[in-house]
Amino acid sequence: MTVTTFIHPVVVVKNKGRIFETDARGRDLLTHARLNKGTAFTEQERRALGLTGLLPPAVISPQSQSDRVYEQYQRQQGDEAKQVYLTALLNRNETLFYRVVIEHLEEMLPIIYTPTIAKAIQHFSHEFRSPQGIYLSINKPDDIEVSFRNCGFTKEDIDIVVVSDGERILGIGDWGVGGVNIAIGKKTVYSVAAGIPPWRILPVILDVGTNNKTLLEDPLYLGNRHERVTGEAYDSFVERFVAVVEQSYPGVLLHWEDFGGQNARRLLEKYKDRLCTFNDDMQGTGAITLAAVLAGVQASGVPLLEQKIVIFGAGTAGIGIADQIRQAMQRKGMSATEAAARFWCIDRYGLVVQGAEGITDVQKLYARQPDEVESWEGRGSKEGISLVEVIRRIQPTMLIGASTVSGAFTEEAVREMAKGTKTPVIMPLSNPTEKSEAKPADLLNWTDGKALIVTGSPFADVEYKGGTYKIGQANNALVYPGIGLGTIAVKASRVTDSMLTAAAEAVASKITHYKAGESLLPGVHDLRLLSRDVAIAVGQAAIKEDVASKGLMADDVERAVDEAAWQAEYPEIHPLD
Ligand code: NAI
Repeated sequence: MTVTTFIHPVVVVKNKGRIFETDARGRDLLTHARLNKGTAFTEQERRALGLTGLLPPAVISPQSQSDRVYEQYQRQQGDEAKQVYLTALLNRNETLFYRVVIEHLEEMLPIIYTPTIAKAIQHFSHEFRSPQGIYLSINKPDDIEVSFRNCGFTKEDIDIVVVSDGERILGIGDWGVGGVNIAIGKKTVYSVAAGIPPWRILPVILDVGTNNKTLLEDPLYLGNRHERVTGEAYDSFVERFVAVVEQSYPGVLLHWEDFGGQNARRLLEKYKDRLCTFNDDMQGTGAITLAAVLAGVQASGVPLLEQKIVIFGAGTAGIGIADQIRQAMQRKGMSATEAAARFWCIDRYGLVVQGAEGITDVQKLYARQPDEVESWEGRGSKEGISLVEVIRRIQPTMLIGASTVSGAFTEEAVREMAKGTKTPVIMPLSNPTEKSEAKPADLLNWTDGKALIVTGSPFADVEYKGGTYKIGQANNALVYPGIGLGTIAVKASRVTDSMLTAAAEAVASKITHYKAGESLLPGVHDLRLLSRDVAIAVGQAAIKEDVASKGLMADDVERAVDEAAWQAEYPEIHPLD
């Protein structure tokens, strides 16, 4: 039995969210999104909870409510209006929101999450209606503890804290306090995709300022109106936050989201051995891309250890992806150095070469030897060695883009790649859609239909020479909700590399016999089932690695996962005196 007390009204959650007790009555109840059932309140509930006369007489089934909402949703003009509509529904009737989104997942996921969420973040201060999550200001570090206390949760109430500092949102950059929306979006997807109860996830924004001039000059901006605080002050603020989280919710999964490249890696390194923690941009991206790579390996017939991989855009995501693939290669018997040698990383100064100016610490492992590239075109120039030159020289089997440079996979580069390999695996992963390194239709055209494509943003099917090509989307939503569910279901104390690999393998295993035109990755229509499979694989890997709750056996994981998952059904609501 779980017991949660929100500060007002008093709400007690029992029997894994199937029974709620509350002292709220009448209109108070109708304005409490977690408790509100609207026109689905039964006659008996209406009498017991002081709702008589406050609702139209008909008692409506949840399905009819959902149908009505969907009708209204369809009338909204444009994706942003649809997103605003759904947010209003979430603030009015949480269960109905989740029911509707789950029923129309394929259509609504791009609205509540990427790519539309980018707009919600950019327009946060203008569209602001009601606060969600916790807002922590670097100017008031002493308030961190009281801010958590004000939520009214006990030590057992929270499974996941999703935190962002808004510095590097989705590829659209620094959006300051608006970054809270990415934490909220991630929370929503945890619940939609894996069934983690929404009331057990806390979104948090660390407002450390912003370097976005537009925001600083916007009179309606709701965040701290100064440049980002960095260095020691930043670190000690984050440290205080982590310490309060650890103390407030021992055993919680701390999910880092959209921090700047340097901070993302640094913070994960600093905290990964101290508490159960996970960075979605690095590890979630790595896992879903590894899934795509493993599916690409299977579809192309080129074994993993023989792949030659170009990473275009060697930032947080790019290096995170390389790390995951490299570790998978190492698990198949390669040394770290041998595995790293299968990668060619290209950043804003061209191919990453050892000793070159501007290469970051994390890029070093993948930097090519200067003598190996001495005669390559562009060596020594300001622009460095280009993508086309790298492709011409090494004939890669895979090309992965995480650069946010729209159209960077040019016709010349792609045609060159297609010359050297029968089935070029090409993944323009940058988000949102307009930042994609290439359009799938172009990639198919330039490779005579041979390219195996995975994108970061959703793209429609492509008709090419009489065939239909489904485009797989490396959507983190295919893995991270299951990783979260598996981790909390077995009460894992850490998120280990093996757990991430298990997640990737669970996704890749959905592609068994690849046929031309098929998507390399599963779609989101069966996301609940997929997340369940991912969670089971992750939970089992946690047990194998001895980081799960003591006494749990591999056979127990399925039950533990099912018990931890919530169905978007109205709870029974009992009056509390
Ligand atoms: P980042 O800013 O850390 O990395 C971008 C990298 O690209 C930087 O190292 C930058 O120097 C480099 N770059 C910039 N211009 C370049 C150029 N002209 N040529 C080569 N490299 C260049 O950003 P992050 O977080 O790594 O994200 C990158 C992109 O990947 C974003 O669009 C993000 O939305 C996308 N992404 C996709 C995911 C997915 O599909 N599952 C998950 C996470 C990120």
